[in-house]
Amino acid sequence: MGGPSVVVVEDADELGRVGADLVADELRRTPGAWVSVATGETPMGMYAELAARHRSGLLDTGGLTPVQLDEYLGLEPDDRRTFFGWMRRSFLEPLGIADERVVRLPLDGDIAAACAAFDQTLDARGGLDLAILGIGTNGHLGFNEPPVDPGAPTREVGLSTATIDANARYWGDVNDVPTRAVTTGMRQLLAARAIVMVVSGPTKREIIHRALAEPVTSQIPASFLQETGAAVTVVVDREAWGEGDPS
Ligand code: PGA
Repeated sequence: MGGPSVVVVEDADELGRVGADLVADELRRTPGAWVSVATGETPMGMYAELAARHRSGLLDTGGLTPVQLDEYLGLEPDDRRTFFGWMRRSFLEPLGIADERVVRLPLDGDIAAACAAFDQTLDARGGLDLAILGIGTNGHLGFNEPPVDPGAPTREVGLSTATIDANARYWGDVNDVPTRAVTTGMRQLLAARAIVMVVSGPTKREIIHRALAEPVTSQIPASFLQETGAAVTVVVDREAWGEGDPS
């Protein structure tokens, strides 16, 4: 357990390529991998690159089981703003994966029971092989908002003001952003065998340095990546990292 590896890339193209290389290597190593799939802006270039490789016959997704990372509550199932809808457009369709193959989080009904069943499903097959993650400006992983327990299960959460403000850009108005959500719990994410985190842009600079360098704290969920047994690779662009190389 050597702590996260940090790869600094110069631009969005390189972020997509390097991220796609890491994910593709993991899929080759683990046919039948269960992979937690983040939505958000940052991984989109990486998914486009993976899709291009899939179209060229260079990436076999036949055995991949995608696992939903997080989801808003309070939306209709066919609302295109659900994270599932975004995942379908950016990951499932381009990679030739049927909706039915996804291990999904609930949108409604008995949320607590569905979250417990989700964790049981993952536990029964031995957890995640790979988690593809971004980082929130408050250090969240998925929607595990601070303060968080590293053993937190998959569950319903209230979104923090920082997250609602950051996501307002996807909704037009801050008052339209849902305030409740479900997230894959910290326990499952930290137990993944490999983690690829993508980080982009100046708004992430302060938090990524704090998450990697400050003492591990429940106030920065991503700081727990320092002490997980997972092989963690953080791919961070120059705008987010700043000058200099990782030590
Ligand atoms: P972003 O989201 O990629 O849209 O910045 C990351 C996150 O909130 O985890």
